[in-house]
Amino acid sequence: MSAVLSIQGLTKHFGKIKAVNDLYLEVRSGQVFGVLGPNGSGKTTTLGMLMGVTNPTSGSFTWFGEEPTPALRRKIGAVLEHPIFYPYLSGQRNLELNAMIKQCPVENIPRVLELVELTDRKDDKYKTYSLGMKQRLAIASALLNDPTVLILDEPTNGLDPMGIAEIRSIIRKIAAQGKTIILASHLLDEVQKVCTHFAVLKKGSLVHTGPVADVGQGEVIVEVNAAKGNLQDVLLQFQGCASIVHENESYQVLMREGFHGDDLNRFLFERGIVATHLVTRKKSLEQQFLEILSEHH
Ligand SMILES: Nc1ncnc2c1ncn2[C@@H]1O[C@H](COP(=O)(O)OP(=O)(O)OP(=O)(O)O)[C@@H](O)[C@H]1O
Ligand SMILES: [Mg+2]
Repeated sequence: MSAVLSIQGLTKHFGKIKAVNDLYLEVRSGQVFGVLGPNGSGKTTTLGMLMGVTNPTSGSFTWFGEEPTPALRRKIGAVLEHPIFYPYLSGQRNLELNAMIKQCPVENIPRVLELVELTDRKDDKYKTYSLGMKQRLAIASALLNDPTVLILDEPTNGLDPMGIAEIRSIIRKIAAQGKTIILASHLLDEVQKVCTHFAVLKKGSLVHTGPVADVGQGEVIVEVNAAKGNLQDVLLQFQGCASIVHENESYQVLMREGFHGDDLNRFLFERGIVATHLVTRKKSLEQQFLEILSEHH
């Protein structure tokens, strides 16, 4: 997989505010890359620099291994905070105007409308659209020139659960077409549900980056119980046990790396103890995210 985006030491200060601080990141082809961070952590500022609407204080980045140029940016579609559409014109007509501005073929319009599931509402005025439909039209507009990369800033902000689910399914469809997606979000749940890789920003600094699937590795908790008086003492003898918490009438065993629920089950069984309850849990991204954010000050 080749690097679509490579960021080196990207920094943006607004006076005393260090909005983005010495950021290094790499996004590879086909990834759905989440930029995760709480409000004010520098997500929008980062995306703004990548799109050439905000000038970096220092640092640099390359798209497809090249210095950013307007021509290169045409390969990138973006939905930044407030897209501008004409309220009294239809979705179709708004896209036609956008296609003209971006100098891309109007023949692409039916395909992008279909992708964002707005075909049957294309002739209705923009002002009659729900928030979710407006957001979908913005995504359609960003896809007009068939970009290789799509950038989305908080794509589900303000939407109801139904609207959120629709946007997420559209993001997955776009990713399935092989496009690379970079998405800013303050929602862990969102990153976990749609992203393959992610970076965590805190006060403008990168505090974590890696595959979403790796989150939770080495953080296995096994919840166990058995009809045995001194179960805790037995569990403490288990080699894979890092720590134990007695909670909800059972024992939460934090496993050492490389140990799993089966190992613990076998260990108990060999001692004539049959577990009445044994559930393996990975630490949730939420728990880890909160830990990541509290670790760095
Ligand atoms: N134009 C600006 N002038 C001054 N300060 C700014 C400007 N834009 C952003 N900032 C500051 O930079 C920091 C990062 O803001 P940014 O909007 O990038 O965060 P964010 O992660 O996108 O937050 P949110 O989740 O609220 O969208 C904040 O402290 C913000 O107040
Ligand atoms: Mg923002």
